[in-house]
Amino acid sequence: MSEAGEQGWFGSEQLVLCRDDEVGLRAVIAIDDTTLGPGLGGVRCVAYPNERAAVVEAQRLSAAMTLKNASAGLPYGGAKSVILAPEPSVDRAALMRRFGEFILRTGGAYLPGVDMGTSTEDLAIAGRSGAEVSCSTEDPSPWTALGVAAGIRAAVAHVDERDDLDGLRVLIQGAGHVGAALAHDLAADGAQIVVADVNASRAAEVAHAVGGRTVAPSEVIGTHCDVFAPCAVARVVSPATLDELNCRIIVPAANDTLSDDTEAYLLARRGITYVPDFIANAGGVIHIHALRVKHDQARLRADIAQIGGRVQDLLDEAQSSGETPLTVAVTRVSRMLAQAREVRDVHHTREVLHT
Ligand SMILES: NC(=O)c1ccc[n+]([C@@H]2O[C@H](COP(=O)([O-])OP(=O)(O)OC[C@H]3O[C@@H](n4cnc5c(N)ncnc54)[C@H](O)[C@@H]3O)[C@@H](O)[C@H]2O)c1
Repeated sequence: MSEAGEQGWFGSEQLVLCRDDEVGLRAVIAIDDTTLGPGLGGVRCVAYPNERAAVVEAQRLSAAMTLKNASAGLPYGGAKSVILAPEPSVDRAALMRRFGEFILRTGGAYLPGVDMGTSTEDLAIAGRSGAEVSCSTEDPSPWTALGVAAGIRAAVAHVDERDDLDGLRVLIQGAGHVGAALAHDLAADGAQIVVADVNASRAAEVAHAVGGRTVAPSEVIGTHCDVFAPCAVARVVSPATLDELNCRIIVPAANDTLSDDTEAYLLARRGITYVPDFIANAGGVIHIHALRVKHDQARLRADIAQIGGRVQDLLDEAQSSGETPLTVAVTRVSRMLAQAREVRDVHHTREVLHT
């Protein structure tokens, strides 16, 4: 992906800059595409070096949400918002409530959820504005972890032609909500877990609980493992790290794992199987949808398990076509969106003819 998408600032269907000096709010809502439904994507609240970086991030992440929601077969488009980290003195509740008003103004085109730096409580407060929000009662992280685990099993089955994880070394970067749950799930299946976290005690706690070991955050990239699961920061694969990666398979929970799409080719050339982040980490959005349409847990689990089948299918097609899994996945979504637009245009024409 180029800096702000191929069409620059006009890469998004709608881009909203929000400002309220009274509550200390500066935020960006990027609605990438609503062909399949309202743009679903989290609210991120982190520090950015400047406003431009915040806009670029919102646009990049919103485009990835379009790919994620469409690939998962969900009736949502893609969107994302970022709030520039406020001063510590700011009244958080007032800020979130005001941000909720900006969300409301999108008229339902943006459906927000939690992301890095926001909580279910933040979303609940934003929702008091009258805007529909997701994640205001439940954290989707355990479901995201379940989907990443399904993706890992499928990738291992494809690469190693085996159905188990016995003795497989899995390196998890980030022992937070997703990383910790993933470590427990995979360890229960016999995987050897290696965990890294900038919060050393968190990493130690998770490693101890699953009978694994820790590695320093600075050593993650060169650490030998079978499967690398980035569960912390974006752009872990970059020109600076590509040659140092010491794994055979990458299955990310973290969004925006590649600093540039061309790295998908370079990983393939190195013999590393890369499962696109937006395929592997869709468990959270599948959970959001399940809550909205009131699916029960059995249905939700079955839908998340399908991530495994999707990964298998993607890797099979990539292997037979000689394309990267990323190219195959992006091409599928482009085709899906083109077909949906065609159907929409036909309906629109019919409506016009009947009025
Ligand atoms: N939570 C979800 O449902 C969900 C869904 C889709 C994608 N994701 C993505 O997955 C990633 C993890 O999400 P989470 O909810 O577990 O976040 P989290 O904040 O709970 O956990 C992230 C962990 O990574 C650690 N960390 C930060 N920088 C690090 C570094 N450089 N090296 C090692 N550890 C580092 C943090 O200390 C923290 O423990 C994020 O990138 C998020 O955007 C999460």
